[in-house]
Amino acid sequence: MFYEITFSPTGGTKKSADLLSAAWKEKTEIDLMKRRDDFTKYAFTAEDICLVAVPSFGGRVPAVVIERLQMMQGGGAKAILVVVYGNRAYEDTFVDLEDTLKAIGFQPVGGAAVVAEHSIFREFAAGRPDADDEIQLKEWSEKLKAKAEQGGEVAFPGNRPYKKYGAIPMTPKAKTCQMCGKCVSICPVGAIPGDKPNETDAEKCITCMACVATCPMQARAVNPVALAGAKAMLKKALSGRKENELFL
Ligand SMILES: Cc1cc2nc3c(=O)[nH]c(=O)nc-3n(C[C@H](O)[C@H](O)[C@H](O)COP(=O)(O)O)c2cc1C
Repeated sequence: MFYEITFSPTGGTKKSADLLSAAWKEKTEIDLMKRRDDFTKYAFTAEDICLVAVPSFGGRVPAVVIERLQMMQGGGAKAILVVVYGNRAYEDTFVDLEDTLKAIGFQPVGGAAVVAEHSIFREFAAGRPDADDEIQLKEWSEKLKAKAEQGGEVAFPGNRPYKKYGAIPMTPKAKTCQMCGKCVSICPVGAIPGDKPNETDAEKCITCMACVATCPMQARAVNPVALAGAKAMLKKALSGRKENELFL
């Protein structure tokens, strides 16, 4: 069986995973965003192939993703690692994911780094994956499928020990909230209270931007002053077109 396992707060990771899954006729999707799912029920076998796609947050795999993956059993299944990043850098995201998957019994056989629109600074890599990326990623899907069927090791870039997680904490807040509760259900960490959707628990929030992207009123946003400051700091690193990479 082929599985597509994703964590995609604003859709870029899911889009990339779908393009890289194009070569498989059938797939079962597992959504790591669902905080109420029981991830211990997923036990794979050596016959299975799992494409695991995660966004890079501060050059690492988001901690909640690691926690949810660690509830699963790889059972010798082949893994295709997909790291999606917002045009700055993915640093140690691959090795972080690789070590997690190996420890629970997966065999990494290939992977890809894909550039997607930055979910905080949306003007960087805007619209990516774009039409050119789509052609490339669909072609790579065939190559990844062939490699997964054949088996064999793969080397990923990154350092151990991994870089420390260092993203700037910015908690989205709601202004003109209509209390529809869409953000409450999408939040992967339960940081938005059901009875007060205009509030956010800053302790739980991982700034994934899912609530901001889903709000039909565009009521949720991070502090514009903090955002402008962070953007000024990262502008150079975020600029210019970065290319996707394939690992076989
Ligand atoms: C908290 C946070 C940290 C991020 N850190 C990085 C980073 O270190 N490097 C980078 O290139 N992009 C970074 N990004 C951008 C995301 O990796 C990118 O936009 C990705 O497509 C988000 O996945 P999604 O569209 O599935 O939500 C970060 C985004 C967030 C929300």
